[in-house]
Amino acid sequence: MPVELLFALLRNPASTGAVMPSSRRLANAMASAAVGADAVVELGAGTGPVTEALLRRLPGVPLIAVELQASLARRLQARFPTVDVRQASAKQVVDGLIDRPGRLVLVSSLPFRSLPREIGAETVDSICRFLARDCERKLVQFTYQPRAPFVAPREFRWHRRAVVWRNTPPAGIWELQVER
Ligand SMILES: C[S@@+](CC[C@H](N)C(=O)[O-])C[C@H]1O[C@@H](n2cnc3c(N)ncnc32)[C@H](O)[C@@H]1O
Repeated sequence: MPVELLFALLRNPASTGAVMPSSRRLANAMASAAVGADAVVELGAGTGPVTEALLRRLPGVPLIAVELQASLARRLQARFPTVDVRQASAKQVVDGLIDRPGRLVLVSSLPFRSLPREIGAETVDSICRFLARDCERKLVQFTYQPRAPFVAPREFRWHRRAVVWRNTPPAGIWELQVER
């Protein structure tokens, strides 16, 4: 539903970061990267294409979907009643899950390149603290840029998992983990 994202973009351009929802191909590729997780935390769930793909690809795996904008979060909860939708910042939710056991995977559509600098920095810090607790944890993040989504501290390793060419624009899917 592009119109929802368009309204969100008009309300809050920097944190929305996109006018078009993620394509089905991109959403499926993001969900495939999370296979094997004990639980998934989706960051910046927006209008829900990645949420839908995660439910299809990982049936029965607990899913928390985080969305900052209240109107989008309400629509997500109405559309996906089995999902634990949190209307909160990614940092708040990730900080709160740091001690949760199991192989947790963060699947993110957060627009790191357009987020306000301070929000971007505190979110990256929170994600890195979370990943550093367990080398089995990972972040899956897409970007339209030809480089890693953000600069991570030295002890972390970025790996480009795939490029989804049939997406407008083509998107790289990257994974971030702490070095073993
Ligand atoms: C690129 S858009 C949505 C992408 C989504 N896959 C889709 O197709 O609708 C990114 C989303 O991240 C949300 N967002 C931005 N900053 C956030 C934050 N700090 N915490 C949680 N969500 C955030 C925005 O409100 C927006 O809905």
